[in-house]
Amino acid sequence: MTTSAFLRACRGRRASVVPVWFMRQAGRSLPEYRALRRSGSILEVIRQPDLAAEITLQPVRRYGVDAAILYSDIVVPVSALGFGVDIVPGIGPVVAEPFATEGDLGRLRDLVPEVDLPWVAETIGILIAELEVPLIGFAGAPFTLASYLVEGGPSRSFARTKALMYGNPDLWHRLMGRLAAITSTALRAQVDAGVQAVQLFDSWVGNLSPEDYRLYVAPATEQVFAAMADLGVPRIHFGVGTGEILDQMAACDVEVVGVDWRVPLPRARTLVRPHQALQGNLDPTALLAPWPVLRTMATSVLRAGTSTGPGYVFNLGHGVLPESDPAQLERLVDLVHGWEPDAGR
Ligand code: CP3
Repeated sequence: MTTSAFLRACRGRRASVVPVWFMRQAGRSLPEYRALRRSGSILEVIRQPDLAAEITLQPVRRYGVDAAILYSDIVVPVSALGFGVDIVPGIGPVVAEPFATEGDLGRLRDLVPEVDLPWVAETIGILIAELEVPLIGFAGAPFTLASYLVEGGPSRSFARTKALMYGNPDLWHRLMGRLAAITSTALRAQVDAGVQAVQLFDSWVGNLSPEDYRLYVAPATEQVFAAMADLGVPRIHFGVGTGEILDQMAACDVEVVGVDWRVPLPRARTLVRPHQALQGNLDPTALLAPWPVLRTMATSVLRAGTSTGPGYVFNLGHGVLPESDPAQLERLVDLVHGWEPDAGR
């Protein structure tokens, strides 16, 4: 495992191949997932360690990716605390009683992993006994989690979230502080159970201006990474639409910065710190293109990524879309693994 191409690249070391994994690699685009998944809430499936472990392994077997990502969801910790979150297929997380007032802070007590979500450590235990590649743990960052809790569901404008942020900054910061503590505890428990890297998903933070990011988000996110500093596993920080805030995201104490598809990787290189690795950033919709087009687009990303140094992990610029053909992902992994950094330049 110490020779893992993924872990080496996360540390900025040269690896035998360019490592590749895909955000949301487990899931609806796989027929074997749909066969296992059946009906019921995804939150119920996640609570079954044998099933969750099997779903985590499916993309590793099929694609030969260089890392597995735990089958879970960003709302699992707040749901386990009883906040009242469900995941509705085709929509996403939905909260019956959204966060609105100071009284709602009481619904976000400290997480006690071994009591509130013992199945997570159990699933990780099964996986590390089986896997030959590293297992990535993850959590939602405070802003993205707060947006679901405050909006009550997915949002385009983040109007309620921003209204709280601007209108009651004191309550906003207390909410972010609670979410940072819960997230840190959840991630530390995953590392204690055996995950070898962690990714913090701040999927919707690109909807903020750089100034708002600095004022309203950075302190809580930095708190999460600082709480992980002693664990010795690579920490990945990812968000979507982050071109204008990537420098601030990289100012956190992290080893890897995830880049969405809008930002050319050489440009990202100038925004992050020299020792940090980059991860990304093929547009997920490229998987819907005919193979020759996908190959050209992926080659361009590979060339850009490898030109930035050995600290490079190939990934998409956001999660795999459900309508993607698994055969395209298989071809893509082969292309990345066949890449010779000095050829094709
Ligand atoms: O590779 C993996 O699939 C790992 C597991 C994983 C899931 N969710 C499982 C899941 C990961 C890493 C996530 C993270 C997640 N969840 C994020 C951050 C990543 C991102 O895409 O930005 C976010 C924002 C969520 C919230 C969420 N959960 C959304 C928006 C959805 C999609 C709703 C839909 O049906 O369109 C979910 C549901 C979800 N989480 C699915 C899976 C496999 C699909 C639904 C299902 O199988 O029931």
